[in-house]
Amino acid sequence: MAKNTLFYAENIKFEREENEILKGVSLEIKKSEIFCIVGPNGSGKSTLASILMGIKRQDSGKIIFCRKDISKKGITERARMGISLAWQEPARFEGLTVRDYLSINAKIPPEKALSLVMLPPDKYLDREINSTLSGGERKRVELASMLTLKPKLAILDEPDSGIDFVSLEDLIKVMKMMKKAGTSVILITHREEVARHADRTMLMCGGCVARVGKSIEISNYFKRKCAPCSIGDITKKLNPDFGGGSIGLPE
Ligand SMILES: Nc1ncnc2c1ncn2[C@@H]1O[C@H](COP(=O)(O)OP(=O)(O)OP(=O)(O)O)[C@@H](O)[C@H]1O
Ligand SMILES: [Mg+2]
Repeated sequence: MAKNTLFYAENIKFEREENEILKGVSLEIKKSEIFCIVGPNGSGKSTLASILMGIKRQDSGKIIFCRKDISKKGITERARMGISLAWQEPARFEGLTVRDYLSINAKIPPEKALSLVMLPPDKYLDREINSTLSGGERKRVELASMLTLKPKLAILDEPDSGIDFVSLEDLIKVMKMMKKAGTSVILITHREEVARHADRTMLMCGGCVARVGKSIEISNYFKRKCAPCSIGDITKKLNPDFGGGSIGLPE
């Protein structure tokens, strides 16, 4: 393992109802790296995020964080160690105000975090995190929460879904801020304009790792080859040289 490796997952497999959702996924995240994951709907990105956070338990495979084996540790312990996840569908908390939510284990004041995600604190601090906040607003509150926690590893599952084009710039700014503050980011996205800001990108397909490389190259490949799919059943292309669930896709 390289000296600057923060997080390492090896050969993660996960099966539910005879459906092999992850077929042996491996990945390595460096310190202060923005690592993007792209892939078609249903390719296993959110499932992988849940496993890395400790919400779901992998059937097999190893997870190392800060040089410790956390494969069997649950969500609370992983959170305490510095891993955080922002959901694809942010949760609602009836009765809990934005101020209270952003004060939990906070390392920076809630007002500051809200300003950084471009939500005016005086308008939002006393709002409840319920259905009266729009989807985009809840996404921003979720991002603000990441900023208050200052985790070592932030897993962002589609932070850009429901975010309009103009606001994408804010999102990219926030991610770069996190990186600068020493946080590594796993960014799951469908948007090329967001992915291109990552240091590296991994393409997932059918529960496998199809490619890892420079963000612009991988997102271009994804755009050109994946919709519509020009490869077919990926499981027939599993390459043992890359490990069980990894493949080297043709150009
Ligand atoms: N508990 C479960 N039982 C059966 N199948 C499941 C279960 N959970 C997830 N799946 C399936 O696993 C596959 C991967 O789902 P996942 O949510 O990880 O995809 P994704 O890559 O995040 O997709 P999207 O881009 O749409 O968010 C899907 O086909 C999904 O239907
Ligand atoms: Mg998903």
